[in-house]
Amino acid sequence: MKLTRVLSADETAPGPDTGAPARSLATPFGVDETAELLLDLLEATTLVSPAAIAEVRGRTANGTAVTQALIDEGVATSEGVARMLAVRHHLPVIDLPSVGVAVDAVQLIPVQTLERSVAIPYAVEDDVLRVAVADPGNLHAIDELRLATKHSLELGVASRDDIVAELQRLARTAEAIGSVVAVEMDEEDASADDLEADDGISDGPLVRLVNALEDDARIDQLHACGGNARCTTCRVQFTAGEPGRITQAEKELLAARALTAHPGLRLSCQILCDHDMALKAISRLAGSGRVDAGKRPADDIQPPPVWTTKE
Ligand code: FES
Repeated sequence: MKLTRVLSADETAPGPDTGAPARSLATPFGVDETAELLLDLLEATTLVSPAAIAEVRGRTANGTAVTQALIDEGVATSEGVARMLAVRHHLPVIDLPSVGVAVDAVQLIPVQTLERSVAIPYAVEDDVLRVAVADPGNLHAIDELRLATKHSLELGVASRDDIVAELQRLARTAEAIGSVVAVEMDEEDASADDLEADDGISDGPLVRLVNALEDDARIDQLHACGGNARCTTCRVQFTAGEPGRITQAEKELLAARALTAHPGLRLSCQILCDHDMALKAISRLAGSGRVDAGKRPADDIQPPPVWTTKE
């Protein structure tokens, strides 16, 4: 048996918008006096070429924040802007690559909220969540962050580039949760399978799908009840090759949890890898808030299977 991970359609989708959710500094009258003053002063220094200043002005006229426009034109660095904003708002500068991002902190605010706010939680201590933001002057984004968590926020300023890099990493993790796992029988398995009884069901020592997902596909698949058909956290979503047979225990549990209406949704602890199949791993430790995936399921299906059909 061979398990391979293949890209799902979701994984080919573009990642989060890495552009700044720019806060326009333009006033209702179309002119931002602070931005204009800053650009006039910069121009007077002759340290920045008139062409670059004109480009920055063009960007701010289109709604881009002047700080972001300066970065885009190479007039300022992301780190330099972070330092400037930190001083202006009396906040610490957070060097994310050296401070690091704690997994338990980043899970406390939804990724979508973080993307909109260009923010990343990097540490949590008691009820205080430390969050690095790119623009502490974006009060709407700060309010959204406060509403998204019960923790008190302690803000710092980090480089927008560093925050975006962390958000992209988070988004890739989230996409991977929906990744497709293909289970293919190799030739040896297939020929052995051909020799099985006419019902096409192997009686050999086949691997439970829940264990194959962990061992071969390296998926952090949940199995909270230890593979005993009691929890449904080992659920997977078949995209091809859904087994026709089902254990009585799985059938009863899916019915009891009102999960029978979801096409292709099955319990991986109740399935053997006895034919080609493709599925999405939809219930994984990452992002679940659980401390572990659950006790390792036994090699054999538990409770001892009584095979039946879905219908
Ligand atoms: S039902 Fe709990 S691990 Fe499968």
